[in-house]
Amino acid sequence: MSILILGGAGYIGSHAVHQLIDQGEQVVVIDNLETGHRAALHPQANFYEGDIRDIEFLRSVFAKESIEAIIHFAANSLVGESMEKPLKYFDNNVYGTQVLLQAMVEAEVKYIIFSSTAATYGEPQDVPIKETAPTDPTNTYGETKLTMEKMMKWTEKAHGIKYVSLRYFNVAGAKESSEIGEDHRPESHLVPIILQTALGQREFITIFGEDYNTSDGTCVRDYVHVEDLIDAHILAIKYLKSGGDSDVFNLGSNKGFSVREMINTARKTTGKVIPAKIGERRIGDSSTLIASSEKAKRILGWDPKKTSISKIFEDAWNWHSSHPLGYGRKDFS
Ligand code: UFG
Repeated sequence: MSILILGGAGYIGSHAVHQLIDQGEQVVVIDNLETGHRAALHPQANFYEGDIRDIEFLRSVFAKESIEAIIHFAANSLVGESMEKPLKYFDNNVYGTQVLLQAMVEAEVKYIIFSSTAATYGEPQDVPIKETAPTDPTNTYGETKLTMEKMMKWTEKAHGIKYVSLRYFNVAGAKESSEIGEDHRPESHLVPIILQTALGQREFITIFGEDYNTSDGTCVRDYVHVEDLIDAHILAIKYLKSGGDSDVFNLGSNKGFSVREMINTARKTTGKVIPAKIGERRIGDSSTLIASSEKAKRILGWDPKKTSISKIFEDAWNWHSSHPLGYGRKDFS
C-alpha cells in the first residue's frame, strides 16, 4: 500500500515525500507543476503529472496504484493573491478538494491528512490560539481552507472518510541534508527573503510596518521547522489508522518572534549584514499569531525537536547558500 502526496513537488509536500521514503514507505506523488518544481521530486516516488480537478486523471491514478492514505498539499496559498483572484482560489482549492473527495469515495480510500492554516482563525481574540477559538478568516485563502475542512467533515458523515486537518502557523527551514528547500516564485515568505538578502540577491529587506502593538512594533509569528511539521503528518496517519477520530490540530511552537528578532537571528547565523528598511504595513497581516500546539502533542504524540528559530535559520541557510538559484531560478523578484 502507498501514501499519495498531492502537491509533492512543492515546498512542504516535497519534504513529506522525502521523510516518508526515508522511513521506508511507498510514495505516489501527484502535482500539476504549476508552483512545484520537477527538481524537487524524489526519484523513488511514482510521479503522475496532473491536476486534482481532473476526475478522469485521479481515477486513472487510483486504478493503477494501491493507495492507503492521502496527504493533501495541492492548493494555492498566497494570501495577497487570494484577495485579488478569489475565484482562482475557490476553483483550485475548494473545487479541487471536492473532485478529490469524489474520487476517494469511488476508490474507497479512507484516510486524508489535510494541510490547513492559521488563516482559518482570522484576527485572534486570545493568544496562544487553541483549536476551539472562533474561525473567522480575514482573507480568501483562509476561507477556502476552512471550506475544505467543512467539506471533509460532511463527507465523513456520509462516506466514512476519516480526516486530520493540520492548521499550520509559519512553516520555515529546510531538510537538514539541504537536498530540498524553499523556492517560491515570486518569493513572499519572510525567511527566504531574509536569506536572499544575506546572499546579496536583494539590496535590503522591507519590514512591513513597525507600529503594531508588539514588543518592538513589528509583527509576531510562530515559526515551525518543516521537518517537525511533516512528522506531525506521519503521526496523524498512524493516529487515523489506529482508529482515531477525525480532528483538527494546530502546528506551531507556542512561541512568537518579531520580524526584527528574525532578522537579528539570521544576521548571527549567516554572519552577514542583511540591510533592512521599514515599509508600510502589508494588507491583511495580523499583528500576532501564536499557536497552542498542546493538543497535537497530547493526542498525536508530536514532539517537535528542530523547532527553534536558530535551527530553522541554520537549515534554511544551508539550503539557500548551497542552492543560490533555488531549483534553477534566475529572477528573485
Ligand atoms: N514580512 C516582512 N517583510 C517581507 C516578508 C514578510 O516584514 O518581505 C513579515 C510579514 O509582514 C509577516 C511576517 O514577516 O508579519 C511573516 O510573513 P510571511 O509572508 O512569511 O508569512 P505570513 O505570516 O504572512 O503567512 C503564513 C503563511 C500563509 C498562511 C499564514 C497564516 O505563509 O500561507 O501564515 O496566517 F496563510
